Amino acid sequence: MKIDKKTFIDSLGGPEAAGRMDSEARADALESHMMAQLNRPKTGDPAWDQIKPEKYPTVAEVESQIETRKYREGVGFMYVPRTGENVKRLTPMPPSPTLYDFFKLRFMDTSNHVLQSAALAMKNSMKEEIILACLLHDVVQEIIRTDHGWWGAQLFEPYVPEKVSFAIRYHQTLRYYPDPSVGYEYPDLYRQLFGYDYVPPPYIEATYQMVRKHPWYMDARLVTVNDLYAFDRNAVVTIEPFMDIVGRHFKQPKEGLGNDGSPVAHMWRTIARPDQPL
Ligand SMILES: [Fe+2]
Ligand SMILES: [Fe+2]
Repeated sequence: MKIDKKTFIDSLGGPEAAGRMDSEARADALESHMMAQLNRPKTGDPAWDQIKPEKYPTVAEVESQIETRKYREGVGFMYVPRTGENVKRLTPMPPSPTLYDFFKLRFMDTSNHVLQSAALAMKNSMKEEIILACLLHDVVQEIIRTDHGWWGAQLFEPYVPEKVSFAIRYHQTLRYYPDPSVGYEYPDLYRQLFGYDYVPPPYIEATYQMVRKHPWYMDARLVTVNDLYAFDRNAVVTIEPFMDIVGRHFKQPKEGLGNDGSPVAHMWRTIARPDQPL
């Protein structure tokens, strides 16, 4: 892929900002930049054709894409594969499924990303609750992506410490707001996904104002810090190194996730049996 060097450096905030990044961060940013270009839909839509490939779209241009798709962007990855291919028959879940089983048999499209995020958190010597939050923060996107912070927190709330579900719920909001104190900058990927002139809606702004003052702010913030560069699709990370942390902080129900009668058991069954018509 041809990369326009000036556009790429501008997207990092100019030569000075690029110079402050270490080589790993620059490589990661380059990968995100390339992914963003690769992910541009090829629809023949005139609104898109007018956009120079090296430029981020506007909000209006992102909206003009809606009616070119066969699905809505908020639908989960396991329900509508973005490859356009047919779905595959799934391996049945064991009778009492554990979190480990869901990672092995259902979180196909999200596990690589969250495992890399958890691995980065571990490398950065984060406390165990943060590593667990990183491990779980995006897996709900298998079923739904819209407001995934809230959905994800709900999915895990009965089984994890409150701080972990807090961090999962609010990482979504904090991704829109930089925090130079921990080196977190607004992600270029969001300029691509939402449009460069996107302004988060009032409920996100109000949530940010609340979380910013909350004593647990940094727990949610650290998920975004360890989330940012976790996009290497070729890296192989397994769940095994995290199983001790899962064992210490995740209350696995003995009946199995989905069979435990918890307020969110239906969400686990929905992930376990996505081919069920009703
Ligand atoms: Fe997320
Ligand atoms: Fe993420």
